[in-house]
Amino acid sequence: MITEQELDRAAQLVRSGGLVAIPTETVYGLGANALDARAVARIYEVKGRPSTSPLIVHVASVEMALDLVTEWPEGAGRLAARYWPGPLTMVLRKKQVVPDIVTAGLPTVGLRMPAHPAALELIRRAGVPIAAPSANRFTEVSPTTAEHVRRSLGGEIDMILDGGPCEVGIESAVISLTGAPVLLRPGMLKREEVETVLGQRVAAGGETEGAHPSPGMHHRHYSPHTPVVVVDGELPPGRGAYLWRRLNLNAELRIPMSDDPAGYARRLYGALHQADLAGLDWIAIEALPDEPEWAGIADRIRRAASR
Ligand code: TXA
Ligand code: MG
Repeated sequence: MITEQELDRAAQLVRSGGLVAIPTETVYGLGANALDARAVARIYEVKGRPSTSPLIVHVASVEMALDLVTEWPEGAGRLAARYWPGPLTMVLRKKQVVPDIVTAGLPTVGLRMPAHPAALELIRRAGVPIAAPSANRFTEVSPTTAEHVRRSLGGEIDMILDGGPCEVGIESAVISLTGAPVLLRPGMLKREEVETVLGQRVAAGGETEGAHPSPGMHHRHYSPHTPVVVVDGELPPGRGAYLWRRLNLNAELRIPMSDDPAGYARRLYGALHQADLAGLDWIAIEALPDEPEWAGIADRIRRAASR
């Protein structure tokens, strides 16, 4: 449980340019005052993240979002009404109050209203929007518990708010609404449902000519140190960890995963952290169904497996 005093202290830290790890329903974020370029510069430093990767700005209300953008298309209003607070980031044209360092020089900003009550309350108390990437070192697996954050960044940040394990477990879906809608990063929202809410088709990341490549989509993003392979019925030679869903095979470390996408996503990063810590030769992941509700999870696993 996060106390009133902790929330006040965290808000004070954010207002004075500090870095606070915050629980959200997706993954833990490394937060700073989004309107303070110097505080945001520290996020990049601590994460070891290239400044070409824009950050998501977290708001506690639509009014707060409106203060940060020059355009609020009808589609943004519809998606916000349906999905906020929740695991959806919308990329919109930014106002000048949003420092260039937040958006890696892009004329657009990614906005999200997180669903974790502590995150919302912190933003309200700080009175400013909070820029926050996932609270891990660049290229490492995102944290879904306060302990994951402590292990990765513990010594270098001002405070960690422990809001328990993240409910969703993988990062938000990112949709650009600066032109025809483009899904820049899949998440746990159903693309078909988003299209119904928008009354418009949503193109997949690479499909659209001239769309921004999603700058966080680096190859080794989300990778554990141990090599990750996707397997279908057979494990590699040597000792390893096996994340299984239906077919239990005889690995050194066997981690049972859910057969339902929401349950699977919730456990995925915790399982990868656990498997990585075991220090074995490989991490094998049982192949996933090729179905739309698994798309966000399959995306993260592809990234974890690519190096
Ligand atoms: O669930 C989440 O989104 C978590 C929590 C903390 O909110 N945050 C997160 O942040 O995953 P990060 O920095 O790890 O990923 C940000 C993603 C990247 O894929 C980045 O390219 C995209 O959002 N993004 C942010 N601003 C953008 C912009 N202006 N244009 C295009 N993509 C943008
Ligand atoms: Mg990240």
